[in-house]
Amino acid sequence: MRPENRLNDLEPKRWIRFQKSWFVHNPPARSEDLLLHPAKFPETMVQEFIEFFTKRGQVVLDPMVGTGSTLVACHRAGRRGIGIELNARYAQVARQRIDALAMPMPFEPGGLDPAPEQVVVTGDARKLDEMGLPQIDYCITSPPYWDMLKRKGFETQRRRKDLNLDVTYSDSPQDLGNIAEYYRFLEELVGIYRKVHTLLRPRAYLTVIVKNVKKGGKMYPLAWELGKRLGDFYVLKDEKIWCQDNQVLAPYGMFYSWVSNTHHHYCLNFQKER
Ligand SMILES: C[S@@+](CC[C@H](N)C(=O)[O-])C[C@H]1O[C@@H](n2cnc3c(N)ncnc32)[C@H](O)[C@@H]1O
Repeated sequence: MRPENRLNDLEPKRWIRFQKSWFVHNPPARSEDLLLHPAKFPETMVQEFIEFFTKRGQVVLDPMVGTGSTLVACHRAGRRGIGIELNARYAQVARQRIDALAMPMPFEPGGLDPAPEQVVVTGDARKLDEMGLPQIDYCITSPPYWDMLKRKGFETQRRRKDLNLDVTYSDSPQDLGNIAEYYRFLEELVGIYRKVHTLLRPRAYLTVIVKNVKKGGKMYPLAWELGKRLGDFYVLKDEKIWCQDNQVLAPYGMFYSWVSNTHHHYCLNFQKER
């Protein structure tokens, strides 16, 4: 007899497929309202994580939800999502996306349950403990990659500027992407994940999607440092590497220096022990 599945609702085939330590996911083209945000992750990709780490009806938190990809994925997967976002404009886009999804669905006799509720809170994730949030079954999030948006490839930034799109998240001093000092940024981020730890139920998982960052000709190992630092109070379970193979290659350092085109992100998986 098959043992009871205590983690998710997946069949063995999908369970095993998810266990591979790397995957290729090329984000589909974005609609106009979503282009506004400089760095969102694909809903289809987040949904795979949510469906692995939770069961239907459970509660998922994204403390830096941007334009709401995690909540759209929660809706599609039948989970309850809570998203926190500092930038009121992005939070508003997230709300509009959810409202559009919550339109009455065609009647399906014996079909899906009504979609569980999705919630967007406009606020500072550093104050997670003051928001009266319920216990969380899973957290998935992608923080600002330090102040990387301020130095992204000149061409990309120029194109976004020409189209009148945001090149950074905001000018707010509360925005983690505006902290110039690397170790202060890291400290603030670790502080947020400490608060997430308090909210998570025992044995729940946290996935942080992040990249190592290059600045001034050297690499700042943000992903590795988060693995180490969060491993002090979570169990660092492993990494899944998200590769993108549809990105244009830029000739950084051509003929004088080694500068890679970094087209992979780390999805770091942690577990709260008790
Ligand atoms: C990498 S983006 C997340 C994108 C999101 N996963 C999506 O798909 O739209 C990081 C987000 O963190 C937000 N942010 C920065 N500082 C924050 C803070 N102190 N509290 C809450 N959100 C913050 C930014 O506005 C930005 O939308």
